[in-house]
Amino acid sequence: MSKHIITVISGDGIGQEVIPAAVHVLETLGLPLIFRQAEAGFGTFERAGNALPTETLRLCEDSAAILFGATQSPMSKIQGYQSPILTLRHHFDLFANLRPVSSENIDLLIVRENTEGLYSRRERVEDGGQTAIAERVITASASARIVRLACEIALRRRGKLTIVHKANVLKETCGLFRRTAFEIAAEFPTLIVEEVLVDTAAMLLAQNPSRFDVIVTTNLFGDILSDLAAGLTGGLGIAPSANIGSQRPALFEPVHGSAPDIAGRGIADPRAAILSAAMMLDWLGYAQAAASITRVACQTPHAGRTADTTERIIQRLAEESSHAC
Ligand code: NAI
Ligand code: MG
Repeated sequence: MSKHIITVISGDGIGQEVIPAAVHVLETLGLPLIFRQAEAGFGTFERAGNALPTETLRLCEDSAAILFGATQSPMSKIQGYQSPILTLRHHFDLFANLRPVSSENIDLLIVRENTEGLYSRRERVEDGGQTAIAERVITASASARIVRLACEIALRRRGKLTIVHKANVLKETCGLFRRTAFEIAAEFPTLIVEEVLVDTAAMLLAQNPSRFDVIVTTNLFGDILSDLAAGLTGGLGIAPSANIGSQRPALFEPVHGSAPDIAGRGIADPRAAILSAAMMLDWLGYAQAAASITRVACQTPHAGRTADTTERIIQRLAEESSHAC
């Protein structure tokens, strides 16, 4: 069996606690995975003058996947500091941000476009500082590839795709996204396809989240809706995510940040990192192991200490696999 190289970037703060916990869970499974530790983050920047050293990038380039914790971003601009996660997404063209949300009666996935929209970094000030303008860039090609991926994923789930936009107001940008989305979705005749305006989608997510399977949308809408959806269940402690491109590597990370308020105390909830590792396994082709970890992590409450919760998850996984024999 060929081995998969995983670059592990724990990063700053609780990244240093939850990512080793997730690797620990993976190591107990006996899968052909090789872990390579790499540095990035604000601590690295302070030490080495670069938040994402060339050596880290090189290791990532040689990997099947990247497991990423979180990095701390300074509140004010610091010369030479660039957020490693944004650089990695850009470098590997990780155009899709996948954020699953599940609990007893909710099982939905938000597929968010990760490269353009209102986060195209085209902002300017005019009128002597009295007017600020952000350009919202939508392209047919980026819309097509994100919707195609969402359709392919929906086929493997419950077969329902919700296209979220605001084309009634944003006639050009959302209009192009909507038109492209329906064109691509038409290539998948077995899917149930609907469209919902973004404000209505927020209301429906709060009111009746179980009606959704796969939601596909543009960058800012996806950012906001996915945090709303995460809030419907256990919050940041159990919210995983994946950043996927058309080639390897893909990057898997908990949605939460470095949590400086609790860092170093050994009390961070490791389940978001463990669930992100499960998404990585699924993407690498280990669907069964991924499903077991996801089920067990969701059923195991956070014990208050990172190490205790991790051990409990490992123990339950071992019990499951011995029953399966
Ligand atoms: P945060 O997610 O780090 O923390 C928000 C709150 O949730 C805090 O009270 C924290 O203690 C709690 N929390 C988060 N994850 C937790 C876990 N696993 N277990 C228990 N409690 C948890 O967001 P915040 O405070 O806005 O940002 C802190 C730093 O993280 C900032 O420097 C920010 O830039 C960075 N950040 C980095 C991200 C990344 O690297 N992808 C993503 C989000 C934030
Ligand atoms: Mg966000």
